[in-house]
Amino acid sequence: MERTFAIIKPDAVEQKFSGKIIDRIEQEGFKILSMRKTRLTRVEAEGFYAVHRERPFFNDLISFMTSGPVVLLALEAEGAILKWRGVMGETDPAKAPEGSLRKQFGTNIERNATHGSDAPETAAEELGYFFRNIDLLEAR
Ligand code: CMP
Repeated sequence: MERTFAIIKPDAVEQKFSGKIIDRIEQEGFKILSMRKTRLTRVEAEGFYAVHRERPFFNDLISFMTSGPVVLLALEAEGAILKWRGVMGETDPAKAPEGSLRKQFGTNIERNATHGSDAPETAAEELGYFFRNIDLLEAR
């Protein structure tokens, strides 16, 4: 079993797509280990996206990610990282395949509805950044 970290971003939460996205997560066979709705502080968002600090889109990204509430999720499945990236589709909704979450619910490359970890190291880092003691929280 593998774990990954997901965010339902402010654009999707604002448009009331959270329920549909969570339903899809369950239908795809992910186990939700932990889930929390919150509004990210600027410090939290900047820390989370620190690898993008030098990118031209960084300031806009931080403004967007702190513009309203998000849903943070710790997910588990066989091959969860690649599986979740497949369900989301490409970063740019215009390039994401029909039926993917970003195609269905995203607006543009920034307002793209969902986030997912891109590798085992980042998944571990991102899960640890927002969730403490997942194993203790989980009702087995
Ligand atoms: P995410 O998978 O959360 O990782 C970084 C985010 O930056 C990305 O989704 C988009 O929301 C945002 N972003 C905005 N512009 C770009 C871009 N040109 N390339 C990649 N990501 C971008």
